[in-house]
Parts: sequence; structure tokens; C-alpha cells
Amino acid sequence: MSRPARVDITESSPRDGLQSLGVFIPTESKIALIDDLSMAGLASFDAVSFVSPTAVPQMADAADVIAGVARSDVFLSGLVPNLRGLESALAAEVDGIGVLTAASDTFSERNINADVEESMRRIRSILDEVPSGIRVRAYVSTITHCPYEGPTDAGRVAVLAERLAEWGCDEIFLGETLGKGTVGDVERVLAGVLDRVPVSRLGVHFHDTYGQALANVVLSLDAGIDKLDSSAGGLGGCPYAPGAAGNVATEDVMWLLGGLGIEHDGHIEQVASVAARFCSDHHLQYRSRAGEAVLAAAEVEA
Ligand code: HMG
Ligand code: MG
Repeated sequence: MSRPARVDITESSPRDGLQSLGVFIPTESKIALIDDLSMAGLASFDAVSFVSPTAVPQMADAADVIAGVARSDVFLSGLVPNLRGLESALAAEVDGIGVLTAASDTFSERNINADVEESMRRIRSILDEVPSGIRVRAYVSTITHCPYEGPTDAGRVAVLAERLAEWGCDEIFLGETLGKGTVGDVERVLAGVLDRVPVSRLGVHFHDTYGQALANVVLSLDAGIDKLDSSAGGLGGCPYAPGAAGNVATEDVMWLLGGLGIEHDGHIEQVASVAARFCSDHHLQYRSRAGEAVLAAAEVEA
């Protein structure tokens, strides 16, 4: 057992949490979500994506969101699917970018109009243009299941992750896009990836559709992984993964990490309170068991 002493949480609610919503969340509300969560102690955000506004209308105001964030000491990252996205991200002065590939050709085609090999060529072209000082995170999505092709090949995940590491991506994040994989599925993926990529460069991104995400977080911690994405209130989904629920809730992860004595950013009660208010204001379901419990306990105490 080699659990990390500290885990870096990237808060994904502003991007993954909102991207699939049918109703447009006003730019000021997106900015307020980031500002309020940063006041609750979170320091790193998967904030926006620089993608086609036809494909993902919710992210059409990405540059304005980045420009509007009040605090200068938070890390703001934007997803970039191609060179045009990179150009927009740099103009918006993000701190980091996320590039995209997947273990499934069909998902990748639906997601970014490129099969896996083409997505890797796009990543290569983006890496050739990224200025130093911009942190690059590469996502390998559909690590266990594809919404269109079914179970995916753990070996393919490992090969892609290794190439991305060799190309110099700072972090390789394994995305369980559909939220279906059990500990057994994720164990197979991690075994292959950890053979090829140093654990210090790996992170995980679990959706929680089948209630497996927290168990997969524990598995990842046990493997020594110290970076993860989570989403306050369990917000999230992917427009190209129909039926996928949100990311593992930040509050649930915080409760877990607190119990394990693992250091992390953020205050659970404050995060829960911000996310519950955001969900209530925008008629969204608040989905964090730990968050609900913490807020209920605080009410009893008050
Ligand atoms: P393409 O094939 O290179 O695009 O990329 P194209 O050149 O054929 O252009 C198609 C249209 O998009 C054109 O507009 C372009 O102007 C426009 P039209 O003439 O049709 O009106 N366009 C852009 N607009 C703004 N910014 C850009 C850009 N590039 C082209 N950068 C593209 C197609 C990738 C752009 C498109 O498929 C797209 O935007 N897809 C959305 C991808 C996305 O946001 N997916 C969700 C995030 S991924 C995710 O959630 C998974 C993750 O959470 C991990 C996990 O859960 O596993 C990260
Ligand atoms: Mg996702």
C-alpha cells in the first residue's frame, strides 16, 4: 500500500459539470461558481473548453469565464480539441490545457470528429505549439467502456498513455467516461498503465453512473496516484456519453481523504454549501452523499 500523503484535486464542475446541460448557465453564474469554490479552498479548476459552440453551446463563453474569475492564485485549465482551441485558450490566458484522446474510435469520432490515431496526431500538433509554462494534461477517455462499442481494451489505454508521456505531456489522466467500470476493470487498466508510465504523472477522472467511482478512487490511491478530478455536487456528464452521470462528488472524495488522513485543498462544508446553492439556483440535482450529510449535521449543530 503506497497511498499518497497529499492528493491534488482538480475541480471539474465548471466544465464537465456544466457541458451537457440543456439550459445555458449565465456567464456570471459560471464565474461565481469558480470564485465561490475557490473561496471554499479549491485551487485548481477544469474550468472551460475551447470547442465548437455548435457542438457544446454551454462552453461558448469560455474566454469570458476565464477573464471573469476574480482570484489570480487559482489554476484555470481549458480543454483544447485542436489547434484553433489552443489559439483561443492562449488568448484567454489559461494556466493549463487539456488535450483529448480515447481508447475507443467511435467515442473519439463522436466527441471530436477524429478517430484515435487522428486524435493523437492533433495532440502532437498541439504539443508542438504549446508555449513553455502552460501545463498540459492529456485525457485518455473510455478507459473501461465506450458508450458505442462496449468494453474497451486496457492494453490500448496503456499504449496511448505511454505515448502521451513520451511526448512530454505533464499529466496523463485516465477518464472513465461512462461511469460503468468496477474496481476489477479499473485494476486491469491501472496494471497496464503503471507498467509504462510513472505514477507521479498519472491522474484519474471517474464518472459515477453505476456508483463505482469512490471505490475506484480508493483503488487509485492504493496504487499511489495523487491527482484526481472531482465535481462539487456530483455535477457532470459528457454530451457524447449518453446516460453518463456526473463525476465523483468532490465532497465525497474530501470525506474519504479526510478519513484516510490524506491532505487536500478545500473545506468540505463550504464546498457542499456552494454546490448545493448552485444546484438549487439552477434547478439541478445535488448529488453528494457526504455533502448532504455534512450540511445536515451543520444545521443540527446551528
Ligand atoms: P474539427 O473536426 O477539427 O472541426 O473538430 P472542423 O474544422 O471540421 O470544424 C467544425 C466546426 O467547428 C466549424 O464550425 C468550426 O468553425 C468549429 P461551423 O463552420 O460548422 O460552424 N470549430 C471550432 N469552434 C470553436 N473552437 C474550436 C473549433 N474547432 C472547430 N476549437 C470539434 C471538431 C472538436 C471542434 C468538435 O467536434 C467539438 O467541438 N467537439 C466537442 C468536444 C467536447 O467538448 N467534448 C466534451 C468534452 S470531452 C469529455 O467530456 C471527456 C472528459 O471529461 C474525460 C472523460 O470523462 O473521459 C475530458
Ligand atoms: Mg468527463
